[in-house]
Amino acid sequence: MTQTVYLNGEYMPLDEARVPVLDRGFIFGDGVYEVIPVYGRVALRLQEHLLRMQRSLDAIRLANPMDLTAWTKLVGEIIARNPWDDQAVYVQVTRGVAPRDHTFPAGVRPTVFVMANPMTKPTAEQREKGVGVITAEDFRWQRCDIKSVSLLANCMLRQLAAEAGCAEAVLLRDGLVTEASASNVFVVKDGVIVTPPKDHRILPGITLDLVIDLAREAKLPLEVRTLPEAELRAADEIWVSSSTREVLPVTKLDGVPVGEGKPGPMYARMYRLYQDYKARIARTGLTHA
Ligand code: PDD
Repeated sequence: MTQTVYLNGEYMPLDEARVPVLDRGFIFGDGVYEVIPVYGRVALRLQEHLLRMQRSLDAIRLANPMDLTAWTKLVGEIIARNPWDDQAVYVQVTRGVAPRDHTFPAGVRPTVFVMANPMTKPTAEQREKGVGVITAEDFRWQRCDIKSVSLLANCMLRQLAAEAGCAEAVLLRDGLVTEASASNVFVVKDGVIVTPPKDHRILPGITLDLVIDLAREAKLPLEVRTLPEAELRAADEIWVSSSTREVLPVTKLDGVPVGEGKPGPMYARMYRLYQDYKARIARTGLTHA
């Protein structure tokens, strides 16, 4: 099955897409990205993803090469040109090709790359039994709010989790839970959902916002506040959220069962709300229902 991608103004098969070695994305990791989930060929919360990308671009002082309308059209075109109804659309903008010098180059055209992959959803087993996670020291930088392609620290942390047979590494900084290597974190204690605030320590997840919106609509008790490690370890339930994993229950933390060691009742409610929301997106064609 041919996978069609977009690179700097042209659509082409993935294996024909080439970027020069002096691209600053390759040399410095100097770029930003988004991963947008697509259900029934409708991009979920597209506008929110594009606005977050604008904030990432502003933070690294890279002018957005396209406006919101052009991005919306481009993402729609990639979805239409690829064969799957449910996709994960990847968008990347780097500072472009320039001689290797740390200072930002002037007058260089940013590199724009967009691809779609089939959406790989969590397995039924992961949902029914939950996943294991490890904890790890969050040794990343102080601008985790930027969705930067410089993901070496995140890759190292995810690798630690994988080698422990776990799905994620939940990160701790100064005794507080920040997020996980590629997802945000929620805990439930005595029926109250708690998640850390969106600041420089975490990526402001679009799925995080969606889960908060769904919890508030359903009048589920929810607190956004700092989350000490002790509360993580004493939680009745732990969830991780991301555009590709949706909301997943964590049933083992550093080898110790979480709560009763199976997905909890609040997870069951959130899972239902999330699936209903996705169905609404696919049915109505609205990216934000
Ligand atoms: N990652 N935190 C980090 C560090 C992430 O990399 C991600 C997503 C999230 C969740 O954000 P969202 O709900 O907007 O997907 C939180 C994507 C999926 C990735 O890198 O593949």
